[in-house]
Amino acid sequence: MKILTVLGARPQFVKANVISRILRQQAREVLVHTGQHYDYNMSDIFFKELGIPEPDYNLGISGGSHGQMTGKMLIAIEEVIQKEKPDAVLVYGDTNSTLAAALAAVKLHVPVCHVEAGNRLGTLSNPEEVNRICTDHISTLRLVCTESAMKFLEKEGLAEQSILTGDPMYDAFVYYASRLTDSDRKNVTGLDGKTVHMPESFYYLTCHRQENTDTDEKLFQILSAMNSLDAPTIYPVHPRNHDRALRICEKNKLANVILTQPVGYLTSISLVNGAKKIVTDSGGLQREAFFGQKQCVFVLDYVVWPETMVGNRNQLAKPDKGDILSKLSAQQHVDPSYMPFGDGHAAEKICQAILSLEQQKKAD
Ligand code: UD1
Repeated sequence: MKILTVLGARPQFVKANVISRILRQQAREVLVHTGQHYDYNMSDIFFKELGIPEPDYNLGISGGSHGQMTGKMLIAIEEVIQKEKPDAVLVYGDTNSTLAAALAAVKLHVPVCHVEAGNRLGTLSNPEEVNRICTDHISTLRLVCTESAMKFLEKEGLAEQSILTGDPMYDAFVYYASRLTDSDRKNVTGLDGKTVHMPESFYYLTCHRQENTDTDEKLFQILSAMNSLDAPTIYPVHPRNHDRALRICEKNKLANVILTQPVGYLTSISLVNGAKKIVTDSGGLQREAFFGQKQCVFVLDYVVWPETMVGNRNQLAKPDKGDILSKLSAQQHVDPSYMPFGDGHAAEKICQAILSLEQQKKAD
């Protein structure tokens, strides 16, 4: 079986790594990198650290409006599919790269397998929500991380060919968290290019979503909440809001917030394990906080991963200093054996489901 996998953004590299490792034992995989993330710290470092094979194609498409980026990717991926003639196209999550690949494949009658299907916020004003709804509805196979996502798919009439596999991000966390070295945690570079002297005690912030970073006001609220805490905050900044974050911190003398360059996966999960608490607007990091049993505050108007929202382990906050601080001060109480993201073997189940498409085809 020949699988064409399309990746483009940071969190997809992590998931693809655990799945490709198994898939390649039984199938031929052609890897396409759309180029959506392209800086060394946003892309290459993941391939290097995690040993992901070099992409067979790098389309070099990034930036611009959502329509421009998705449209250019659609054209380029269609050409690759026509040339490679895969048996299936494998996509991950909810980025513009995901939607473009799924659209290109379905129009060419190539089955789409969607990992991380079924999550819903309930608003089309979130760009990722649009991507995930469209991708789910044009997929042949939906690989689902959690029961709540399965329920959304059932409601939308998509229960058939939707399989609860568990979360490959959990697989990756289980695998790599036990292999971290001291240098992974220290491998943090400041915006000035110098190695950051890591404090013993710190909070970990990531904040990059369009909803929180497109104006000064919201990002200022988040950063001033972090600045007022009892330990410094490590904040690796996404290139989209690098300039804004730097300006806000300098103008308001937010010296308790340490801005750094984006970090690789291994450093990120060692920051999760070392942090007092975590504040984020990332779907991936809030799950990693959950896996590492760290208390987290998720800054957005909508719940993305309802399974994490138990016993104050993860709480929703507005981009508002008072709300964030009040949520951070709560105590968490979660049964440590509660693990709604599978058994750490989601990747095997995902690969099995994909490979069974070929058997179904032969049987038809
Ligand atoms: C994308 C995903 C989001 C995911 C995030 C992970 C969509 C709609 N959103 O958001 O779901 O959580 O990736 O990080 O696909 N940029 C650089 N260097 C890079 C990457 C991006 O400078 O290596 C710039 C781009 O040129 C662009 C901006 O950052 O101007 C935003 O990047 P983009 O890929 O559009 O979306 P993300 O915010 O990264």
